[in-house]
Amino acid sequence: MQRFVNRLGWYRLGSYCLAAACSILLSALPSHASDNGLALTPPMGWNSWNKFGCNVSEDLIKGAADAMVSSGMKEAGYEYVVIDDCWQVSRDASGNIVADAQRFPAGIKALADYVHAKGLKFGIYSDAGVKTCAGRPGSAGHEYQDALQYAAWGVDYLKYDWCHTGKANAEWAYGTMRDALKASGRPIVFSLCEWGTAKPWLWAKDVGNLWRTTGDISDCWDCKKDALSFVKIVDLQDGLETYAGPGHWNDPDMLEVGNGGMTTTEYRSHFSLWCLLAAPLIAGNDLKNMSAEIKEILTNKEVIAVDQDALGIQGRRVRKDGDTEVWARQLKDGSRAVVLFNRGADETQISVSWEELGYPAHLSAGVRDLWMKKDLGKFAGTYGAKVSSHGVVMIKVAP
Ligand code: GLA
Repeated sequence: MQRFVNRLGWYRLGSYCLAAACSILLSALPSHASDNGLALTPPMGWNSWNKFGCNVSEDLIKGAADAMVSSGMKEAGYEYVVIDDCWQVSRDASGNIVADAQRFPAGIKALADYVHAKGLKFGIYSDAGVKTCAGRPGSAGHEYQDALQYAAWGVDYLKYDWCHTGKANAEWAYGTMRDALKASGRPIVFSLCEWGTAKPWLWAKDVGNLWRTTGDISDCWDCKKDALSFVKIVDLQDGLETYAGPGHWNDPDMLEVGNGGMTTTEYRSHFSLWCLLAAPLIAGNDLKNMSAEIKEILTNKEVIAVDQDALGIQGRRVRKDGDTEVWARQLKDGSRAVVLFNRGADETQISVSWEELGYPAHLSAGVRDLWMKKDLGKFAGTYGAKVSSHGVVMIKVAP
C-alpha cells in the first residue's frame, strides 16, 4: 500500500513537472500565431485601388513610389507601396502565378527592387478564393506556392481579399495563408480584406496584422443609400476599439483623401478620425498630382503621431449629441487626442470635459490645436471650440 502511495506521489510530482515544463515552453512561444513582429503601429502606405482600380502598371507603381519620396509622404512615415487587384493574369503549367507581361514588362521582382531602392516597402494583392474580385486568379489551393513566390519577389505586405470563396470558413482560409506566409520565411504584413463579414475582430488577432471592418469605402460624405460613405464607416467603428492593439489593427478601409468626392474640410475630418481610430493610413489618391491642401492633410506630422502612438490604444466615441460628437484617444505620454466632430450643416460650438477624458475635473491642462499647429494655453476642466459644418477641431490635451 505504502509503495502504491509513493508511486502515486511520484506520479503526481511527475505530472506537475510536466505541466510546469509545458507552461514554460508555451510562454516561450509567440503569444499568438500571427506574431510576426510587424505593424506594431498601424501600417502606412499607398494602394492603387481607390484611384486607379484595375488600371495598374509598372509605370504607375514606380511613379507612386517616386512621388511618395518627392512629396514628403515617405518622410512623414508612409512606407508600403501596394499594387491592388489586376496585376495577375493566369497560372503557368506548374501552377505559378503569372503577372501581366504587358503592364509589368520587367516583372514583379524588378518592381519590388525599384521600390526597395527608394527605401520603401512593396506590397501585393491576392484573394482567398479561386478568383480575385476583378476575376483574376486567386490563391485558393495555391497558398504555399504563392507565399513562396511573394517571398522570392521581395514582397513585404499582402492584402488578401474574400471574393469567390463560396462557403469557405474565413478563419480557416486566412489561417492557411498566415501559415504559408510564415513558412515562406520572409516577414510579410498580412492584411485581411474580409469586409467584416465573419467579425474578424473576434478571431483575426491570431491571424493577421490588420483586418477590414466593413465593405468598401465610397469617396463621399454621406452619399447613395447603400454605399458605405465616410460617415457610415465611422459609425461602424464605434465599439470595435477594444480589439485593436500593436500588431493587430481594425481597418476601416483605405483613405479617400484627395480623390475628389469630398471637400477639403471633409477630407480633414476623414484623416483626423482615421488617426484617432489607430487605422492603417493607406493613401488611395494620385500622389503625383496632389494639391497643396491634400498634401498638407496627408503629411500633418502631429496628426500622424496620434495614429502612430506607441501605446496602440484605439480611440473611441465618448459622446454623441445629435450631429455633434466627441472622440478621444489615450496616448503613451498620458495626454489625450480629442476630435470634436460636427456632422451638421451649420457651424456649432462643441466642448469636451476633462472628466470625459478620464482626468479630474479641476485639472489644469495644456491644449494644442493639431491642425492650426498652435498651443492654445492652459484650460481647467473643459475646452470648447466652434467647429465648422462637416469639420473637426483636433486637439491634444496634456496635463
Ligand atoms: C474588393 C476589396 C477592395 C479592392 C477590390 C479589388 O472590393 O474590398 O479593397 O481590393 O476588391 O478588386
